[in-house]
Amino acid sequence: MAKITLSIIKADIGSIGGHIKPSQKLLETVSNYIKEKGRGLIIDSYIGHTGDDIAILTTHKKGPSNPKIHKLCWDAFLAGTKIAKSQGLYGAGQDLLVSAFSGNVKGMGPQVAEMEIEERPAEPFLMFMADKTEPGAFNLPLYLAFTDPMHNAGLILSPKVKEGFKFVIMDVSYTKVDKIIELKAPEEIYDIAALLRDTGRFVVESIFSRASGEQVVSASTTRLHNIAGKYVGKDDPVMLVRTQKDFPATGEILSPYTITPLVAGFMRGSHNSPLMPVKKNTSISFFDGPAIVSCLAFCEKEGKLTESADTFDHPYWDYVREQAAQETQELRRQGFFGAAMLPMSELEYTGVMETLKELEERFKIRKK
Ligand code: 13P
Ligand code: 13P
Ligand code: MG
Ligand code: MG
Repeated sequence: MAKITLSIIKADIGSIGGHIKPSQKLLETVSNYIKEKGRGLIIDSYIGHTGDDIAILTTHKKGPSNPKIHKLCWDAFLAGTKIAKSQGLYGAGQDLLVSAFSGNVKGMGPQVAEMEIEERPAEPFLMFMADKTEPGAFNLPLYLAFTDPMHNAGLILSPKVKEGFKFVIMDVSYTKVDKIIELKAPEEIYDIAALLRDTGRFVVESIFSRASGEQVVSASTTRLHNIAGKYVGKDDPVMLVRTQKDFPATGEILSPYTITPLVAGFMRGSHNSPLMPVKKNTSISFFDGPAIVSCLAFCEKEGKLTESADTFDHPYWDYVREQAAQETQELRRQGFFGAAMLPMSELEYTGVMETLKELEERFKIRKK
């Protein structure tokens, strides 16, 4: 059986009219670059955008973290950045945080999700791309899809699925090296929940089937905030999920997105927002949001991709989107107040700190 690697590498390298969407020319530049320079290196590719982020999906046989694959994507983003600058796009090269490529785009700004798979006779998988939010946005949907029979009927109906899953969770506040923990579902679901509630700190990196040991999920964990030390945009995560047979069904993976959980992101990366499931190539609008997630389904054979199926392009999700818009309105009614804006520790701008520092000097201790 062929071993194939699926790689998603995603970056914001510039956008029309603010943080809305990349230009057509920008998308074409990245796409053409991958097609031309990827010849002989990759098997197939798909390039798309969600909000202002461009994601490159490639299939190849080089394994995860391969310098050649990473450099191909990095260089495609550099070529795109040139175009973005020439068009006067906003935030040209925004996510390319270092000037020289050093073997792996992890920690350099782009978001990465990769998986080497032992190809099954049929290989359905999902490509998730989110904008105006952070990697922890996938925590609740993953928890529910892999541990809760209210969303995953397979946990009751399929003996292989019922054997459960192993979660690998990263503490993203630890920036020196990767700090991870492995926890087993169902035995340790309360421990998993205790970590995953804290979306700014603990992020699901991967999930494995306990029936076969195979990897089911790979999600991006990079926090730009932690790399650059200052606000340079939200982290806008990507994720790969394999589905069917011993894994959850596609519909089970999608089921939790009906909840549209509140996630961090939205305007200036500093607010809470319902996570709205959207169609492919959706742009951003209201209050630089709301936070959005798209999901494309593919099958592949020896690395050759089918066309994508747009999973959130269905009348059911129109209804969910309407609900998410209503929730968004409820939250936006209170503007900067309380839960609408993120707590001080998560604020992506230093403006408030500077104001507090200035005001501190004007505070007086009242004499008795
Ligand atoms: P199949 O019987 O076609 O495999 O479908 C089962 C399933 O996964 C439905 O969710
Ligand atoms: P992005 O991270 O998607 O570029 O958004 C940044 C922002 O500040 C939106 O208001
Ligand atoms: Mg942007
Ligand atoms: Mg973005």
